[in-house]
Amino acid sequence: MAAVGSAVGLGNIWRFPYTCGKYGGGAFLIVYLCFVFLLGSTLMISEFVIGRRTQHTPVKAFQSLHPKKAWGLVGLLGLITSFFILSQYLVLSGWTTNYVWDSLTGRLAALGTDSGTISNYFSQFSTSAGRPVVFLVVFSVICLAIIMCGVQKGIENVSKVLMPLLVLIVLVLCVRSLTLPGASKGLEYLFLPDFSKLSGEGVLAALGQALFSLSVGMGVMIVYGSYMPLNDNIFKTAMWITACDTLIAVLAGVAIFPAVFSCGFDPAGGPGLVFCVLPNVFNSMGGAGVVFSTLFFLLLVVAAMTSAISLLEALTAALHEHSIINRQVSAVVFFLLTTAFGILFALSVGPLSNITFGHAHLTLFDFVDRLNSIYLPPICSLITIIFFGWVMPEADVRDELSNHGTLKIGYYSVFRFLARYLAPLALLVVLVAGILG
Ligand code: PFF
Repeated sequence: MAAVGSAVGLGNIWRFPYTCGKYGGGAFLIVYLCFVFLLGSTLMISEFVIGRRTQHTPVKAFQSLHPKKAWGLVGLLGLITSFFILSQYLVLSGWTTNYVWDSLTGRLAALGTDSGTISNYFSQFSTSAGRPVVFLVVFSVICLAIIMCGVQKGIENVSKVLMPLLVLIVLVLCVRSLTLPGASKGLEYLFLPDFSKLSGEGVLAALGQALFSLSVGMGVMIVYGSYMPLNDNIFKTAMWITACDTLIAVLAGVAIFPAVFSCGFDPAGGPGLVFCVLPNVFNSMGGAGVVFSTLFFLLLVVAAMTSAISLLEALTAALHEHSIINRQVSAVVFFLLTTAFGILFALSVGPLSNITFGHAHLTLFDFVDRLNSIYLPPICSLITIIFFGWVMPEADVRDELSNHGTLKIGYYSVFRFLARYLAPLALLVVLVAGILG
């Protein structure tokens, strides 16, 4: 459940709809689903196996499976990726926390159902210097407090109770969204593929989104694998997480796209999409909207927390394993660093938006968003899967998957084929093609 908590988060409800909208809807969805089930789940199983087998955090995990210490660099790259993802994740989590407050105080409800008013509100808020930073700090302090109290029990309990509640609210949203006038256009956009809309970059974005959403390709699942009970079935657990995560992303799509079209938003509207569309849906619910809106954003904050904590946990555990620094101090170190970077990224949406990178003039936030979704996780995943399929002793893999021969692993030959051939090849092709444009 803690790993489900890591996978399910803003990636499903914020990033999936906006990426899917940006890169063409239905065609993106199909490519995304292929990546999730063929590559993402394979990677998740590999990371769990590496983690549980070695009982180490990423760098040591790779090193303990091969005498060449250089393999540890893959683990390091993963941790660096986790660092940047967490820093950026804090910005979005801060926005979401602010929306809880705005729902509670009636500020969101007061915006009514005019899409222009809601969009203006969002852009004014996200480009300001005050509230995004304040709520970012509030969110990270709570994460730090939770992690200092020790992770597993708390997160498991929270995930068990609150995640199903989040799904329930998303279902309510789906019903509301589907009954809005003109909703069918949104469903068509999401489910009727038009492959002419899909670019090479779109395919790479689908891959990045699949990895981001499943929390793979950055070593976090190696750390969670090392905490996994020895009698848990790795294959079943990974499939369960993959299925839950995907279901929630698709449901979020069903909740959002009909409303996007019905309320006259642009599906390719970018990172602000969900923050503009959902208030509109809530406000169309009348008085009940305030309750649903508060509850929804609150649960989304909790979902974001279980994801952010998994990232902070991976960094904390790694620093603790490699130094004499204890867990508490490690957590504080990464809390301070990621919060500082997060504040910088938050400000780059507004006051610092004049600082841009490359010929596309990306702001720091957009630049890091690309790095975090399109480049770093796929690169890290590629090296991880090559290591797993070609370098790690096969006997270890079999032994770990079968819980020392006590479980049947009828899926093994298909899985082995995916891990050795299909996944590395597909990752390589998509990466190269995507980078070359
Ligand atoms: N999977 C999380 C989400 O979809 O929101 C984000 C995330 C968590 C990415 C942990 C990576 C990670 F290691």
